[in-house]
Parts: sequence; structure tokens; C-alpha cells
Amino acid sequence: MALKYLPGKLQDAEQRKLLDALRAVMEEAPLFTPTMPRSGKPMSVRMTNCGPLGWVTDRERGYRYQAMHPATGKPWPAIPEALLTLWREVAGYPADPEACLVNYYVGDARMGLHQDKDEEDFAAPVVSVSLGDSAIFRVGGLSRKDPTQALELTSGDVVVLGGEDRLAYHGIDRILPGTSALLPEGGRLNLTLRRVTKRG
Ligand code: SIN
Ligand code: FE2
Repeated sequence: MALKYLPGKLQDAEQRKLLDALRAVMEEAPLFTPTMPRSGKPMSVRMTNCGPLGWVTDRERGYRYQAMHPATGKPWPAIPEALLTLWREVAGYPADPEACLVNYYVGDARMGLHQDKDEEDFAAPVVSVSLGDSAIFRVGGLSRKDPTQALELTSGDVVVLGGEDRLAYHGIDRILPGTSALLPEGGRLNLTLRRVTKRG
């Protein structure tokens, strides 16, 4: 398995139901502005998490997973059932995800090319779900210098980065405002489901 692109994987009604569940997540665990290690430069996306572990970053302690929301100090809310069901269907991995990062992009928000490598185990894939406005997703190889290709992700699309592509460089060039009516406030939510620790 490598990169799997599942366009339109979630139907409209499934997207709305998932969005309702995510609204509850964001109510309990508000979006925060992450900052880069050392420089403290704010990222343009806002984020929160659900699941036993959440990915966070700040100037002092850098990229990491932790069990508590950095601002509220409370545990992250549970991963919505619909996302666990999706993972069990598409991940091809015999254990549930431990982390679901929720990224919110609006306006000029973007995400530079990076690898997801803060996990202890790369045997499980990363499963990504797009909701709301479309985005230009860029994916390359295992080296930053490898050629990349662009993929327009629309609401309901699912991407699975696994196998030899688990550590592929990827990022979001930009979102395409006004391309979806799912979020009345506009913008794009992206959910990334991951295993963090080794099994057993
Ligand atoms: C990420 O790599 O964390 C997000 C990718 C996306 O927004 O599609
Ligand atoms: Fe990523």
C-alpha cells in the first residue's frame, strides 16, 4: 500500500454528521494557534485534537504528542465514532488510532511541506479527511527534493498515506475559498488520524 486517494468517500449526510461531532470537539477543546519550535513563529492554521493523544507544538517544547489540551489542561475529547469506523475500513491496521489532529484553514492559511514523523511507529498509515473548502494538497517523496504532485482535495475526500508513502513529504499550498457550503463560516477542516505508540 502506498498513497490511497478516495475521492468523495464521505457522502453529504456523513459529512454533516461528522461536522456536528467536530463542533462538539471544538467546543470542549478550542482551536489554538500552534507556534514553531525555537522561533515561536505562529502557524497559519489553528488546531485542536481528539483522542488519547494530541499533537501540539510551541516555542519552548517543540513538536510532541500529549494527553492534555495546552490551554485548558483537560484531556482531549474522544475521537468521533464515524472516524473510528472509517479508520477500521481504510487503514488496514489492527488497532485504532490514538490521535486525531483537527486543522482549521481559513483565508491564507497553508501548511508547508513536511513529513509526519513524530510517531514511534510508522507501521500504521496516516488517514486524512477533508471537510469544507477545497485545498491544493502537495505530495512528494521521501526526500524534500523529490518531485511533487498537486491534488485538489474536496469535502468528503479521504487520503491514506501508508506503506512506502507513510513518510512522504506533503503539505497544503492553499485553500480555495467559497468552494463548499458545508462550513457556513467558510474555510477547511482537515482531520488526520494516527497511531502514535507501538502496539503491545
Ligand atoms: C497535515 O499534514 O497535517 C494536514 C494535511 C491537510 O490539511 O490535508
Ligand atoms: Fe502532515
